[in-house]
Amino acid sequence: MSNTATLEIGGNKYEFPIIEGSEGEKAIDIKTLRGATGGVITIDPGYKNTGSCESGITFLDGEKGILRYRGYSIEDLAEKADFLEVVYLLIFGELPTKEQHDKFHADIKDKAIVDEEVKKILDGFPKSAHPMGVLSSLTSALTAFNPSSVNVDSEEDLYRSIVKILGKFPVLVAWTMRKKQGLPLDYGDNSLGYVENILKMMFRKPNEEYTMNPILVNALDKLLILHADHEQNCSTSTVRIVGSSHAGLFASISAGISALWGPLHGGANQAVLEMLEAIREDGGDTKKYMAKAKDKSDPFRLMGFGHRVYKNFDPRAKIIKVAADEVLGDLGVEDPILDIAKGLEQEALKDEYFVQRKLYPNVDFYSGIIYRAMGIPTEMFTVMFALGRLPGWIAQWREMRQRKEPIGRPRQVYIGENYRNFVSLEKR
Ligand code: MLT
Repeated sequence: MSNTATLEIGGNKYEFPIIEGSEGEKAIDIKTLRGATGGVITIDPGYKNTGSCESGITFLDGEKGILRYRGYSIEDLAEKADFLEVVYLLIFGELPTKEQHDKFHADIKDKAIVDEEVKKILDGFPKSAHPMGVLSSLTSALTAFNPSSVNVDSEEDLYRSIVKILGKFPVLVAWTMRKKQGLPLDYGDNSLGYVENILKMMFRKPNEEYTMNPILVNALDKLLILHADHEQNCSTSTVRIVGSSHAGLFASISAGISALWGPLHGGANQAVLEMLEAIREDGGDTKKYMAKAKDKSDPFRLMGFGHRVYKNFDPRAKIIKVAADEVLGDLGVEDPILDIAKGLEQEALKDEYFVQRKLYPNVDFYSGIIYRAMGIPTEMFTVMFALGRLPGWIAQWREMRQRKEPIGRPRQVYIGENYRNFVSLEKR
């Protein structure tokens, strides 16, 4: 293949370089297109064919069902690493040594206090507020309590902001859930591992000792790893584009949380569970719901199937499916919802309609079942996704700033009115 692409417009030919990624992915570099052609641009709503950046963090091959963080397969990481190792890997590019891991953890713990005044903000929300809205607001509010701006050219400054958000975010997650449940807002326990501490902060009851359950620790560790990054998805692109205006890390992450909330993105895990519940309440007939999903005139929408970039099994869904079986088995939970989920999956895998459209279960399909078995309320599922995605957002924000990417500012093709003379109010 030639390493240039030729474009012909109105008889004029323009050449553009083709750049190649480390896994052989090719892209036509059209940076000079508008200038060279005197105003022609490309249009690609939803960016299905548009690379917004060059990135060295996550590799994804949707056709083959491959996902790697910094070159390591998601399968290996989910089985062999803990979440904090993955956090370090994503942000700094290498797996930490034991010494680096311990120092990183110690630095995070050192910053894991949230200003008490933040509780007043939380108090202002009604109990009925959706946890994602609350979390996004509190994350944005952190900026006000940590006002020094980050000098991204200083590794030290950047590192300080990173450990701050990694320390404070789990506290905000726990407070968001506990406020809804009317429980006291506590801090973590610095003697515990990062994930153990999250569980204790979320579930500790004021009148009894918290007993750590290794099954839950293992399950949460795995879930967080599986959600930790997914290249240029909607929320990550949001974080990068907000950050490209040189808005701070916390503000950019707050915007990412809002982007994640939607049911077409992270909010899908809540929507899947609600759908499975509704099917159960209606008698659990999976065949009936598969037929509804295929019927274009039926408003029912099958959630958790298909993915923008995976045209094969989402590798994360494979891991989560096995984990869901293990966790429910280990906890002795018999959940009819899991049977309904498996029924839908089986129906879909042998149904021409789904096979042809490559509609396989995605990461959101099984994650809610594990969260539910762990005792996490349905409305908190997307918050758990955000907790997992935090290192990905940080890594992508850091990469974008360190590569000195320009402000994200797409163009448009204007389809509105042509020039009109202004008519004053009395004459209209
Ligand atoms: C994600 O993990 O962000 C979702 O699968 C969505 C995506 O990648 O587009």
